[in-house]
Amino acid sequence: MKIQLKNLTKDYGSIVAVDDLNIEFDEKKITILIGPSGCGKTTTLKMINRLIERTSGDIVFDGKSINDMDRINLRRHIGYAIQEIGLFMHMSIFDNIAVVPRLLKWPENKVKNRVAELMDLVNLDPDEYMYKYPAQLSGGQKQRIGVARSLAANPEVVLMDEPFGAIDPINREKLQDAFLEIQEQIQKTIIFVTHDIREAIKLGDKIAIFNRGKLVQYDEVLNVINKPANGFVENLLGSDRALKGLETMRVKENFDTDFYSMNTIEIKTTGEALKFLDDNGRRYCYVVDGKNRLKGYVGKRELEKRKPETELKEEIKNIESLQPYSNLMEAISTMVVAGLNTCPVVNAKDQLLGVVRFKEIFKIAASFQSED
Ligand SMILES: Nc1ncnc2c1ncn2[C@@H]1O[C@H](COP(=O)(O)OP(=O)(O)OP(=O)(O)O)[C@@H](O)[C@H]1O
Ligand SMILES: [Mg+2]
Repeated sequence: MKIQLKNLTKDYGSIVAVDDLNIEFDEKKITILIGPSGCGKTTTLKMINRLIERTSGDIVFDGKSINDMDRINLRRHIGYAIQEIGLFMHMSIFDNIAVVPRLLKWPENKVKNRVAELMDLVNLDPDEYMYKYPAQLSGGQKQRIGVARSLAANPEVVLMDEPFGAIDPINREKLQDAFLEIQEQIQKTIIFVTHDIREAIKLGDKIAIFNRGKLVQYDEVLNVINKPANGFVENLLGSDRALKGLETMRVKENFDTDFYSMNTIEIKTTGEALKFLDDNGRRYCYVVDGKNRLKGYVGKRELEKRKPETELKEEIKNIESLQPYSNLMEAISTMVVAGLNTCPVVNAKDQLLGVVRFKEIFKIAASFQSED
């Protein structure tokens, strides 16, 4: 659904929270709203689903003014993850997620499947958590339930107000990856508020930058990075634009499918593995199982120390891996920490898809710098 804000204004007496805002949100894309505390982000979201009534201006959904729409009905078709999480404390996690589907009178078995599916999606085991209460969850877990709830009734539009704000950096990255993977499937029109410029760059198709109730810049992420509208935006982006450029690029579009792997179905002993390495002129090689799931790697030097009939399984070493939706900045930091020049890429099922090479990422970073 396309959403247009036309001369949208909200004032609280002398405070103008949102000041003559004109913006058009792209259908099926993620638009990020970012800016300092108090710049009007939450107020803007709440006007879109009429939790707050605007002072003047209009909001238009696919050409239809919000004035001509039923308020309750509107809200049921817009998912909303609020900044304060807002779970019902006396209701189980299941009932919290099920609120809107039940209002829409979905049959109970469909509701149940949906709740389990969404909990999986936000990485909370349904068997363990479905019948717990919000008070039994951590802040980050509650926030994930808030995200699941906003998607519950499969709304066309989802408004998310700092949905990952209370989650620690590591889980946050995972959740962001999962979120992008989901969005590629569900293709919702998402308006997403954050304070975090890295999150904005990673998740956004477009970024809308606010200051004091006004829109300062609205453009595709790369354009904002390459051509900040003014000093305020430059400040928000920070100084290192080449590295920020890497944050806009995903592993998915930058990995190499030219690599070696051996399969534990075909190669069962260290002797066979050594022969494979020698035949292919390799010093090491990734190992996958019969379903192409990454098990780790083996190195020639270690294998040579073993009797040739040793089971290969015992010699497989763990290795870090990257996910297709991680960005190249995350890839670099993972590789630096793990000391890898080449890092395998796996999908959500752990299946080996390809490799990322450090050298290639550096070439890309250099190309950003030369565009400045
Ligand atoms: N009910 C209210 N009465 C008076 N002023 C309000 C009210 N709600 C919000 N404001 C003011 O409107 C401005 C915008 O608030 P808003 O909550 O939209 O900011 P925000 O960008 O979401 O900030 P944050 O990043 O801290 O969540 C602020 O100056 C705030 O103090
Ligand atoms: Mg806010």
